[in-house]
Amino acid sequence: MNDSGSDNKNPNPPEGKNSPRLIKEGIRIVFRLSRAYRTSLIYEPNNYIYLRQVNLLHSQIKSALKSYGKAFLTLKQNSMEFNSRKLKFSFSDYRIFKFIQDEFKKKEIGELSFLPGLKKEELNKFIILLAKKGYDPKDPYKDFISEIKKKNIENIIVEKIPSYEKSKKKNRDTKNLFFLGMTHLKEMFQQTGKLQDHVSLLTTKRLMQSIFNHIADNESFMLGLTNIKNFDEYTLNHSVNVCVLSISLGKKLGLDRNELVDLGLAAFFHDFGKLDIPKDILVKPSKLDKKERETIEKHTFFGAVRLMDLKQGTSLPIEALSVALEHHESDGKVGYPILIRKRAIDLFSKIVKIVDVYDAMTTSRPYRKKNFSKEEALSYILEKGSKEFDPIILKVFVDMIGICPIGSLVLLNTGEVGIVFEKHVDPQHIMRPKVKLISDENGNKRDGDIVDLTEKDENNKYKRNIVKTLDESDYDIRTADYFVAEAE
Ligand SMILES: [Fe+2]
Ligand SMILES: [Fe+2]
Repeated sequence: MNDSGSDNKNPNPPEGKNSPRLIKEGIRIVFRLSRAYRTSLIYEPNNYIYLRQVNLLHSQIKSALKSYGKAFLTLKQNSMEFNSRKLKFSFSDYRIFKFIQDEFKKKEIGELSFLPGLKKEELNKFIILLAKKGYDPKDPYKDFISEIKKKNIENIIVEKIPSYEKSKKKNRDTKNLFFLGMTHLKEMFQQTGKLQDHVSLLTTKRLMQSIFNHIADNESFMLGLTNIKNFDEYTLNHSVNVCVLSISLGKKLGLDRNELVDLGLAAFFHDFGKLDIPKDILVKPSKLDKKERETIEKHTFFGAVRLMDLKQGTSLPIEALSVALEHHESDGKVGYPILIRKRAIDLFSKIVKIVDVYDAMTTSRPYRKKNFSKEEALSYILEKGSKEFDPIILKVFVDMIGICPIGSLVLLNTGEVGIVFEKHVDPQHIMRPKVKLISDENGNKRDGDIVDLTEKDENNKYKRNIVKTLDESDYDIRTADYFVAEAE
């Protein structure tokens, strides 16, 4: 890094622990950079509105160079640093940070250093190159750098994202966060009812913001983590899974960042009332009798009461109470509790309800002989359909879980293996597509018929169900070949 500022008296002034001024200046540079970038998309390079933004950015950088002798922005996993200090973006500024982060990532920029000789013209050319589209997708960094060289931009040094920063570390951070969620919830469960709860809730809120950031950045890995099914810590593990899946689903439904954090909080505490249910009933290895069932069903009410206490003087969203109370309910018709006064179910409750059933079904429980595959769970949920679940949210959820797209390899309950060939027109039968059979129940390959999974036998039961999707690379099968063959 360049430390040899020429026009400053003290290139490296001592910084306080959090160096608030430096952080503020770094944030201002990120803002100015995003402004100039956006304006360049609208105006010609010689337009005065655009040039004004370049000037402002230039002065901001120059001022930082003068104070610190260096000015460099570094992209980190889920944050950005200025002169090696982490920039803290406020809630509302997060979009701007995310925008710059995405632009850096597209070009694989890991670090941007401005040298003291930086001229306005160079900055102008640089912004235009940064905003330019169409860099070679195979190696955007190389392509971008060669353009910079062509334009003789000498006082901006662009360094590439280190590859470990891109995936391994990212996944490790996400995994750690996931387990941190479980540990934190465990603490909340243990200390509930004490004064400290209020302090813990702030930590919970910060945790939700982190989960939100990781979902925005590393969604598929985060969703993959919800496959962790830890029976010993069932309620904790389940609560974190429901929280992650709910935020992800809420994001697909178009909720904004603040709403998603609230949704995450509400989902996190949806089963909080289970604290009041005797443990021997919660983990009973056999089927529950009527009385025990009724006891367990009270967790919705107990949860709402506990959260009402917790809410006093904190920023716990009111929806958390609704979700605790309503997540087993369907507009007062089915599910529980059946309340005398009918009222509309909160949107958050509808989201959590779908995710809750899905996660509970796919986790093995002591009283259940087998747990369901995600395909079977989804199939069950879809068959309940709009009677129990909100049809639009359900559709988005199915898309999110993303199973059974055309071309996927599926194992049927008959033992046969097939390829999904055609989706059913009725979304309720999304798990009942037309399937081309490619192997019989003994695993012998065959060029079989295309069967319709909505076909029923004489007892009005479906002839075939999808048990799970298979990975084609494990089976020496290229599903695409079957499509080609069928098309010929
Ligand atoms: Fe529940
Ligand atoms: Fe639950």
